Amino acid sequence: MKFFIDTANIDEIKEAHSMGMVDGVTTNPSLISKESGVFEEIIKEICKIVNGPVNAEVISLDVEGMLKEARHLIGIHDNIVVKIPMTVDGLKATRQLSGEGIKTNVTLIFSPLQALMAAKAGATYVSPFVGRLDDLSYEGMLIVEQIVEIYSNYAYNTEVIVASIRNPLHVLDSALMGADIATIPFNVLSKLAAHPLTDKGIRSFLDDWEKTKK
Ligand code: G3P
Repeated sequence: MKFFIDTANIDEIKEAHSMGMVDGVTTNPSLISKESGVFEEIIKEICKIVNGPVNAEVISLDVEGMLKEARHLIGIHDNIVVKIPMTVDGLKATRQLSGEGIKTNVTLIFSPLQALMAAKAGATYVSPFVGRLDDLSYEGMLIVEQIVEIYSNYAYNTEVIVASIRNPLHVLDSALMGADIATIPFNVLSKLAAHPLTDKGIRSFLDDWEKTKK
């Protein structure tokens, strides 16, 4: 499973990249708003660090506006993937961009049928938001399981990016379900690497090593 990092923070991206854990990056307007600097410059900087898909989202809600923004965004770098919201206009824009060979990520997916429609429109990626479904007492990972099954039934090439990940179990379940990608916030990535028994084991190895010097 590929690991994308779900942040626009350059320090976090550099740190995760140095661990070999960044196959790509997802951003959204909320993540960009947490950083200082101009949107395009932040995206350019990310593209210098990561040699993989870098997702940048459009703000427009109408087809023409989305297409205009998408064409501007892909001019920033060859690795740009254009994030498009899952709406009727979003599907129209996705279809058009896909026809032009521009990579898209249809975002804010909350049902398997939305994901099926996005794949039919030619989306390169879809982003089901599992944490936000969990917040409403729906089982977020269930839609991932269903999307993976539907795409497999009909051999769609659209890749599933599990998004709105809030904890390590979301990542584990993503891998068990065969999702293509998990886009992981930095704080969750740090938790994946940690285990109290690893820390305890290191401490006891070092204590025993000290004893050999006496
Ligand atoms: O990848 C989507 C993600 O940024 C949304 O996460 O935690 O705001 O639901 P969250």
